[in-house]
Amino acid sequence: MQLTSKKLMRLWREFWISKQHIEIKGASLIPEDNTVLFTTAGMQPLIPYLMGKTHPLGNKLFDIQPCLRTNDIDEVGDNRHHTMFFMLGNWSLGAYFKPEAIKWSYEFLTSPKYLGIPKERLAVTVFAGNDIAPRDETASTLWQQQGMNKDQIYYLSDNWWEIGGGVGPCGPDTEIFYDTGKPKCSENCNPSCDCGKWVEIWNNVFMEFNVQNKGEKPTKLPKQNVDTGMGLERVVSVLNGFASTYQNDCFVDAVKVLEDLSGRKFNFENDEGRDFCIICDHIRASVFLLGDIQPTTPSNVGQGYVLRRLIRRAVNCTRQLGIQPDALLKVADTFINFYADEFPQFVQKREFILDELNKEIAKFAKALSGGLKEFNHIIANMHNGDTIDGVSAFRLFDTFGFPLELTIDLSKEHGIKVDKQGFEEAMKKHQQLSRDNSGAMFKGGVAVANNSTEAVRLARLHSATHLMLGALRRVVGDYVEQRGSNITPERLRFDFLCDHKLTPTELAEVERQVNEAIEANVPITCETMTVEQARASGAIGIFDNKYGDQVTVYTMGKFSKEICGGPHAKTTGELKKFKILKEESSSSGVRRIKATIFDD
Ligand code: ALA
Repeated sequence: MQLTSKKLMRLWREFWISKQHIEIKGASLIPEDNTVLFTTAGMQPLIPYLMGKTHPLGNKLFDIQPCLRTNDIDEVGDNRHHTMFFMLGNWSLGAYFKPEAIKWSYEFLTSPKYLGIPKERLAVTVFAGNDIAPRDETASTLWQQQGMNKDQIYYLSDNWWEIGGGVGPCGPDTEIFYDTGKPKCSENCNPSCDCGKWVEIWNNVFMEFNVQNKGEKPTKLPKQNVDTGMGLERVVSVLNGFASTYQNDCFVDAVKVLEDLSGRKFNFENDEGRDFCIICDHIRASVFLLGDIQPTTPSNVGQGYVLRRLIRRAVNCTRQLGIQPDALLKVADTFINFYADEFPQFVQKREFILDELNKEIAKFAKALSGGLKEFNHIIANMHNGDTIDGVSAFRLFDTFGFPLELTIDLSKEHGIKVDKQGFEEAMKKHQQLSRDNSGAMFKGGVAVANNSTEAVRLARLHSATHLMLGALRRVVGDYVEQRGSNITPERLRFDFLCDHKLTPTELAEVERQVNEAIEANVPITCETMTVEQARASGAIGIFDNKYGDQVTVYTMGKFSKEICGGPHAKTTGELKKFKILKEESSSSGVRRIKATIFDD
């Protein structure tokens, strides 16, 4: 291979270091704020800094960021879509703007020292202008100064980038395309066309605007920033002349495993090729989620639910290929090995990753046999040409973990159709389950549970948060106050005011006091009173309610009394055992603790 993904990562680092940029490392696939489920663009961890906050590493930055997008999940299986992919990014936080951004993009792409792409192979699009920002003649002139011809530059009105949801920093962009050399499909063919002539490889966003509230007009930010994103998988595949990103180096071993086991040759253009691609994509994404510094495990909520879907879809594809689902463990292993240099924690966590995958495969197998009975029941009185309604198909999916594709496949065998649209509607109604990247999935910092087991666990972790705040105030001082709280079925995360890094002794004492409160097994009671009564009773919490407003106060014996909307466990004993996992800085003067509870 001319250009491997590893080489591209190395060149990217070398280039930006030579331009005095600092690398930001180690951002998780799980974003710090709860507004979205996953990091969907490299800029996401940088939002506060694009808005004006000072970044501790300076104003010229770059990174290599794993991203995960679920909105394209149904496209995966073609020659270029992925859920998890790498975005290479560089940023100017008010340090430089269009001239340097365009000059450096061009240099990285065309210089023989870096990608060495002949300039005739490039095309760019620039913003055509609207009432917010003018037609981007500046960008166009800058591209021409680099040596691009006018006919390689296209003005498009949709060259405007904003985060999904439309709130936050945004601006016009200039997108860079690789021209495959195929003829134009029509006179009007331009880089936004889907005919296959052009492949987008890099986006430079000139982020000098911000949308404060949804639907409002963008206003100017205090600084002119640059935010770029290059798709690693796309670049590797076009520069090697591959027809599919699944021919890239990172997938070679995985494809080989599948070829050997199935006795079939990978060809992305047929249905089996689709199964190869889905397995490769979904299992790579699963390895990254399980191996993340904030690991996700399969569940029925939030990120865990997406992971469950990825694994189960991959299992389904093994069935189509006629191989055993445990082939996925071998596939996962290839990714752990491939990324060992860049993500050494994958190797350390190999056993955990494979074990979690294995458990989910087994759970799915069990659910499937139950689902098959239900399926046979549904079709018992149906005939050739009949349709399974959306609600039944959704029940198969929701209760038995039957993917829609499986229902469709099995139905086909009986000449029965499935109401896909009805399925989608039922899915939408069941909103917590179908949350994807764009939806908020937390209520008051607590993940929305889908089943009762998870709801109970979330409530217990919530109670543990109260006990921990009580203990922190006793151990560190009365000034300790909540600054943020976020609870998933796996752990609690709590940000609080504190002027120093907690010492091991302090942490041990906080943990001990929480466990003491648990052992005391006191009832957790809830009373409704006015804000004034709550204050007088010594309850802590946020007193921003109006005079006379009713609030609920949760009391846990002498250990905690807080204004809070719940839900909580019934007694402290239900929490069983409490453990602090990590203490770290959250922001200036604010510390963060991650902790969990477990049985035994
Ligand atoms: N944030 C820009 C993108 O995702 C670079 O395309």
